[in-house]
Amino acid sequence: MVVWSIFRFNSGREMANRFAIAPLTTDSSNDDGTVTENELEFVRRRAASGFGATISSAAYVEQDGRAWQGIGATHDGHLSSLRRLAEAMRAAGGLAILQIYDGGRIAKPELIGEQCLRAPSAVASLRPGAKTPRAMTANEVGNLIASFGEAASRARKAGFDGVEIHGANHYAVHQFFSPRANHRVDNWGGTLSKRMNFPLAVAQAVRDALGPKSIAGFRITPFESERGGYTLEDAKLLCSELAKLDLDYISVSLDDYRMSRPVSETRVYDGPVEISYTPAESPITEFARVIAGRSAVMASGGIKTCIDAEGAIKKGADLVAIGRAVVVDPEWLSKVRSKSEASILAGLPKDELEIAKALSIPPRMVEYLLSRPGWIPRL
Ligand SMILES: Cc1cc2nc3c(=O)[nH]c(=O)nc-3n(C[C@H](O)[C@H](O)[C@H](O)COP(=O)(O)O)c2cc1C
Repeated sequence: MVVWSIFRFNSGREMANRFAIAPLTTDSSNDDGTVTENELEFVRRRAASGFGATISSAAYVEQDGRAWQGIGATHDGHLSSLRRLAEAMRAAGGLAILQIYDGGRIAKPELIGEQCLRAPSAVASLRPGAKTPRAMTANEVGNLIASFGEAASRARKAGFDGVEIHGANHYAVHQFFSPRANHRVDNWGGTLSKRMNFPLAVAQAVRDALGPKSIAGFRITPFESERGGYTLEDAKLLCSELAKLDLDYISVSLDDYRMSRPVSETRVYDGPVEISYTPAESPITEFARVIAGRSAVMASGGIKTCIDAEGAIKKGADLVAIGRAVVVDPEWLSKVRSKSEASILAGLPKDELEIAKALSIPPRMVEYLLSRPGWIPRL
């Protein structure tokens, strides 16, 4: 079966199978952005089941872009923490990839101070209670691009095999590409081609910092569900430009790989969602066609069995990323490999203490998971 075969990236690095652990924020780092023992244990135990690659929870590249209590990659003081994380992620010899992000308008005011909230434009997110950010100056935009590059250099120094740019899920890179969030009229906004400039500049900065022999990936939300958002056609054009930068992979972030729909900005907060359209074909298939083998395609969303993984690959993916299934069952991949899928845990135990202890999930992450009803199944 394809899912168990080796995959070789443009950079020459190899995944021993097609399964990656999706980026999963534990919300459990120290205040200074260093990794905690709890987080290391969460990752080590899951990576030990033999994933071809593990992608880290997203690390912030600037202090003012922090959207949760996560890991940082903003200065060399973070290097030893990043090194420990990379080692834990390689528990079974798989590749270690650091995801990097900036929160933009959905950074957390409690962490950064409300007056520090900055974004492409002074437009608040649709999330209930969202604060209005101030628009970044052109200088700040340039600095943020440089910060992505510097974080990528730190990842390389800390021993990661590569970096994934978090261009999805409504964070800053996504905001620059979105006509809903980006109302700028300078080089960074206005037309579709100018809205592409920030994601492309970040991808170039990361590739330059890594050199050709490390993995550079980019995660994208394939279209915005909200009216007035960017369309699948827009995102395909961006992917086509990204593929020219010799990226190793483009990761398509979906809620469910079968349903073609990405996560909307307000979904988990029960806010109003205006659905504008559903594409006729899977975005995975559409992106694979546009990218045409120049970069690999990674797919995620609702993959819970080997048949699901094969299904995503049939739609055009080369690789699959597994999120909630591996949160709920740390030994998910070993069970899939040994054809013991019937024994896979289907939900989190009722008892919260048991969740933390039996499944090696940091207590803050347990709180975070349970704060969004319906997000993760319960037994
Ligand atoms: C607890 C949790 C934390 C997450 N953190 C991140 C993150 O840091 N970066 C990211 O790109 N996606 C993040 N995601 C999204 C997942 O990577 C994945 O795309 C999503 O859960 C859908 O895949 P799944 O159905 O396999 O869970 C997170 C998801 C969960 C459940």
